[in-house]
Amino acid sequence: MDNVPTHIAIIMDGNGRWAKKRGLPRLQGHYAGVNAVRRVIEASLDFNIKYLTLYAFSTENWDRPKKEVNGLMRLFPKVIEEEVNRLKTHKVRMRFLGRLKELPDKVQEKLYWIEEQTKNFEDLNLIIALNYSGREELIDAVNKAVREGKVVNEEIFKGFLYLPDIPDPDLLIRTSGEVRISNFLLYEIAYTELYFTPTLWPDFEKSDLIKAIKAYQKRERKFGKVN
Ligand code: FPP
Repeated sequence: MDNVPTHIAIIMDGNGRWAKKRGLPRLQGHYAGVNAVRRVIEASLDFNIKYLTLYAFSTENWDRPKKEVNGLMRLFPKVIEEEVNRLKTHKVRMRFLGRLKELPDKVQEKLYWIEEQTKNFEDLNLIIALNYSGREELIDAVNKAVREGKVVNEEIFKGFLYLPDIPDPDLLIRTSGEVRISNFLLYEIAYTELYFTPTLWPDFEKSDLIKAIKAYQKRERKFGKVN
């Protein structure tokens, strides 16, 4: 495919509803969501997408039932461990975005481990937002700038964000029919094309990604100018 987005960001929503529809516990929806994550990574490699950012856990998600939060905190390191070889084979670099220091030690250890294991790869940059909040990213950036006594412009400010070297997303996808941003990448999506689909995240297939990319290709990106 020509003219594919360089960077796709996804708000993976609807795991809970997917499970509820089947009379399953919410965690089963997250397990099924992991399969959709695998499919999207494979498809991104096929289409030569360079950056894929997935919203896996927001700072607000701590307020969910304890069982669900604990289940997710066990799931993240487990999936990382299971996927490391596949990521290496496909030359995928895995990185994380968010207030990582507030995550359980066991989760943090695995995140830093996989970042180290995959740091020399660049076929696909896979970025997982964990304990992430767009507002907090901005507040953290402002505080860093103040501590360093810096007056900022756009270029300098970008340097204070969590992952300054990552280009802004070209396309943001949200699944499950919700039409909002929910505190995701507030600064970075200023000129991102938005795409919403009713498909629940665990049902998201390669064909859904193709549909989103095709819709993106029809958009006229103007960045505030006249084409
Ligand atoms: C949103 O659905 C989904 C989450 C908050 C968790 C997403 C996490 C995964 C798919 C696991 C990914 C793992 C790795 C390592 C990348 P929801 O629970 O808000 O669904 P609902 O709105 O239907 O309740």
